[in-house]
Amino acid sequence: MKKHRVGIVNVTGYTGIELARLLIQHPGVVLTSVTGRSAAGNRLDAVLPHLIGTDLVIEAELGDVELAFSAMPHRESAPEVRHLLDRGIRVVDLSADFRLRDAAQYPAWYGFNHPEPQLLEQAVYGLTELHRDEIASARLVANPGCYPTGALLALAPAVKQGLINGHFIIDSKSGVSGAGRSLDLKAHYAEANEDVTAYALDGHRHLPEIVQELKQLRPQSSPAVTFVPHLVPMTRGILTTCYTPLHDELASSPRGKEKLRQIYLDFYKDEPFIKVVATPPHSKHTLGSNMCLIHPTIDTRTGRLVVVSCLDNLVKGAAGQAVQNMNLMLGLPETTGLEALAVWP
Ligand SMILES: NC(=O)c1ccc[n+]([C@@H]2O[C@H](COP(=O)([O-])OP(=O)(O)OC[C@H]3O[C@@H](n4cnc5c(N)ncnc54)[C@H](OP(=O)(O)O)[C@@H]3O)[C@@H](O)[C@H]2O)c1
Repeated sequence: MKKHRVGIVNVTGYTGIELARLLIQHPGVVLTSVTGRSAAGNRLDAVLPHLIGTDLVIEAELGDVELAFSAMPHRESAPEVRHLLDRGIRVVDLSADFRLRDAAQYPAWYGFNHPEPQLLEQAVYGLTELHRDEIASARLVANPGCYPTGALLALAPAVKQGLINGHFIIDSKSGVSGAGRSLDLKAHYAEANEDVTAYALDGHRHLPEIVQELKQLRPQSSPAVTFVPHLVPMTRGILTTCYTPLHDELASSPRGKEKLRQIYLDFYKDEPFIKVVATPPHSKHTLGSNMCLIHPTIDTRTGRLVVVSCLDNLVKGAAGQAVQNMNLMLGLPETTGLEALAVWP
C-alpha cells in the first residue's frame, strides 16, 4: 500500500512532539519532513531522544509533502498555513488561527488583526465527531482547542437534543503542558507543583470558540457561557465539569438519570474515541490515548445537568485529534495509528 507523505511545521513544541510520536508509528503515512526554528539542522532523535526509529533531520523549510500539520503559536501559524496551501499542501492547523469564523473576533480575543481572513471561510472546525463529513474533503482543518474539545463533547448530546434550559457553567482543570513549552513563570516546577489556581476569569481565549460551536449545534440558541479554567499540578490531562439547568420534564422525571445516560449512549454509539462511562472518570484514564470519557448525570436537587469529561490535552485535545482528522482527509480508517490504550498509572 502506498503511504502518504506528511510533515510537521514546528516539531519542537509539545503538540509537534506528540504529532511526531504518533506519526512515526502510523502504518498509513510516512513522516518525511519536520521543521523547527532554533533546532534546525539537528537530528530529530538527538533533540527528542524518546523518538526512536527515525533518521529525520529538522529543517528550516518543510519539504515536499501531501499533508502538513502546523503546530505553530497562534498569529505565527496563519501565514505559514497560507504558504502551505499555496504549495498545494492540505493542512491541519493546531493553532487558533482558523477556528473562529469571524475575523473581527481575533483583535478582541487574540490581540491581532487576522492576516489571512479570506481563508476563514474554507477552514473546517476539526472537532471530528461533529464535522466528520466536511473534514474529509477539507483543504484546511482548524483543529480545536484542548478545552473546547472536552467541553463541547460533554455538552453536544444535551444541546443537540434541546435538553438545556439556560446558561452554561464550564469548569476545567488542565495539566501544565497545556500552556506549551515556552518558558513561563507560572509553569516553573516550584510554582506549579502543589498548587491549584483559576485563571482568565475575565474571558479565556477558548470561550468564543466554545460559544461559536454551541450555536452551531443549536442555531436558534444564544448560549451564555461562564468558562473558568484552572491550572493543576499534573503534566497532561484536562478534566471538565459542565453545569447547566435542564428542562423540567427530564430533570423531574423519576428515571431522568437513566434517560439522560441513554441519550448520551445513543449520540456517541458509533464513536471510536468517545466512551460514556458510568462513574466519574479520572484524567489519568486517558493519559496518552485519544479517548474522551464522558459521565453525564443530573443533580436532582437543583434540576441541573452535570457532565464530567476528560481527555489528554496533547492527544484528543491536540495531536491525536489532528491525526484522526488526517485519517479522514486521506481516506484512511479513522482509528489508524490511534488505537493505543491509556498508560496507567
Ligand atoms: N499545548 C497544548 O495542550 C495545546 C493543545 C491544543 C492546541 N495547542 C496549540 O498548538 C500550537 C502549538 O502549541 P504547543 O503547546 O505545541 O506550543 P509550545 O510547546 O509552546 O511551542 C513552543 C515551540 O514553538 C517554537 N516557537 C515559538 N515561537 C515561534 C515562532 N514565532 N516561530 C517558530 N517557532 C516558534 C519554539 O521554538 P524555538 O525552540 O525555536 O524557540 C518552541 O519549540 C499553539 O498554537 C497552541 O495554542 C496547544
